[in-house]
Amino acid sequence: MKRYRWILACGLMLAAPGFARAHGAEDMPAGPIRDRMELMEHIGDDAKAINEAVKAGKTADALKPAENIVSIAPKFTGLFPDGSEDPKSRARPNIWTARDEFDAFNTYLVEAAQKVADIAREGGDLRPAVKKMFGTCKSCHDKFRIPEED
Ligand code: HEC
Repeated sequence: MKRYRWILACGLMLAAPGFARAHGAEDMPAGPIRDRMELMEHIGDDAKAINEAVKAGKTADALKPAENIVSIAPKFTGLFPDGSEDPKSRARPNIWTARDEFDAFNTYLVEAAQKVADIAREGGDLRPAVKKMFGTCKSCHDKFRIPEED
């Protein structure tokens, strides 16, 4: 019985929005921290739309959100001026000490989203490209984003 409840709890956690957050851009005053949170929230929405397109088998529907990621993601790394840390931000301090790696992760995301856009435009199996794109989110978050407090 206990085991069943545990499995149920895990199921509920998976059902919750994949990128839940304690604080959002709307909690922040105008500035680079708010801008980067907002930008990531848009990327989150686009990623969700891509995922839904895959699930529905509507390859072409992934085009717009993938192109949107390609166009906005490159702005992300410019939104970390020195000292732009904040208790409400989940940016890990190593962003400022491992810049090259942080920038490289962002480039991987842009390249992966470009690949998704190409397939959405030309047709083909989106799944491997989408999986790869989500992998870039995860690698960067694992290394450069403070985990959600529970
Ligand atoms: C280059 C690193 C990097 C990549 C790549 C990246 N993220 Fe993020 N993401 C971050 C960081 C850092 C934050 C926290 C920003 C802050 O709070 O200041 C964040 C925050 C977020 C947030 C907002 C929630 C929050 O913590 O405030 C969402 C949603 C999100 N990312 C989704 C995604 C998705 C989806 C992808 C891939 C399609 C992705 N991210 C790729 C680094 C990255």
